[in-house]
Amino acid sequence: MSSQQRILTGLQPSGALHLGNYFGAMQPAIEWQDKGEAYYFIASYHALTSLKDPVALAQYTRDVAADFIACGLDPNKVTLFNQHDVPIVHELAWILSTVCPMGLLERCHSYKDKVAKGIGATHGLFAYPALMAADILLYGADLVPVGKDQKQHLEVTRDLAVKMNETFQSDLFKLPEPMILENTAVVPGIDGQKMSKSYQNTLPLFGEEKPLRKLFMKIITDSCEVEDSKPTENSTILALFRLLASENEYDQMVADFKAGGLGYGNFKQRLWEAYMDTFAPMRERRAGLTNQDLDEILNQGKIKATRVAQETVTQVRQAVGLI
Ligand code: ADP
Ligand code: TRP
Repeated sequence: MSSQQRILTGLQPSGALHLGNYFGAMQPAIEWQDKGEAYYFIASYHALTSLKDPVALAQYTRDVAADFIACGLDPNKVTLFNQHDVPIVHELAWILSTVCPMGLLERCHSYKDKVAKGIGATHGLFAYPALMAADILLYGADLVPVGKDQKQHLEVTRDLAVKMNETFQSDLFKLPEPMILENTAVVPGIDGQKMSKSYQNTLPLFGEEKPLRKLFMKIITDSCEVEDSKPTENSTILALFRLLASENEYDQMVADFKAGGLGYGNFKQRLWEAYMDTFAPMRERRAGLTNQDLDEILNQGKIKATRVAQETVTQVRQAVGLI
């Protein structure tokens, strides 16, 4: 086994990836590919808890892989795989479920939040944290970079690792450390709320130029006149521009906001251009990725991940008496 720390994270293919996902999850994950042995996977089984459209699920699943690679994930460094290509994860999830107290799952707020948003209250959605724990423990992850909303799921994972070790008097599992991405910006969507697939307010990472530009032009602003000085606080345009433009360009836009004399259309156009400048190389890489490249990368990932997963499950079977 390698002495490098294992870094693992999953991204759900539950919709088209957006700028919030990029700055909040993908860009940090891409930075960490150099800091250890990285396992990144497309959490397709998890997405099935909210998405019941087979064509869309298959498309988004492929898109997450393509988007990640286009954005700089290096398949020579990272084991990138589809969760459903290593179905043995369910064996571990089941075994974890048998030591998982109901109360632990009942306390998870993500379940309640999702049900409140209209996602079906299914066993899969309820048991989601046990599957997530299996994802993490299967690959012996040391570090798990996730957004704040996933913190509780990491606590469940650690609890289940301890429970397994205690119940079967073994040291089967080490305790993974969450790496909570506290200081990644909360990227606002076109309506000023947190950008999210569930709020229909996203700026997708990729897609055709024309409709994409239209979305940038739809960013909600106040009703200041062209000549007015514009408030710089809580401005969605400025928050996004800060992420996409250079410091000088950002300072210039702040100055122009304050000075008055320019309309929001001008600022939106500058934002659009900054987006295009930032993502042009990634768009080009994405367009150049063939299905064959993608299949090859995911297949390599599947082979490597399966090897690790099988080793773990063999040890777990031994420990619990499934021999
Ligand atoms: P969504 O809310 O669009 O469904 P997910 O919950 O699938 O997004 O989030 C996947 C990852 O992207 C998580 O790590 C999350 O923290 C990050 N993320 C999502 N939206 C944003 C945002 N608006 N700003 C920063 N990070 C975000
Ligand atoms: N639940 C995570 C999310 O919604 C995705 C996920 C599934 C995950 N399994 C994981 C993240 C394992 C990290 C580790 O964002």
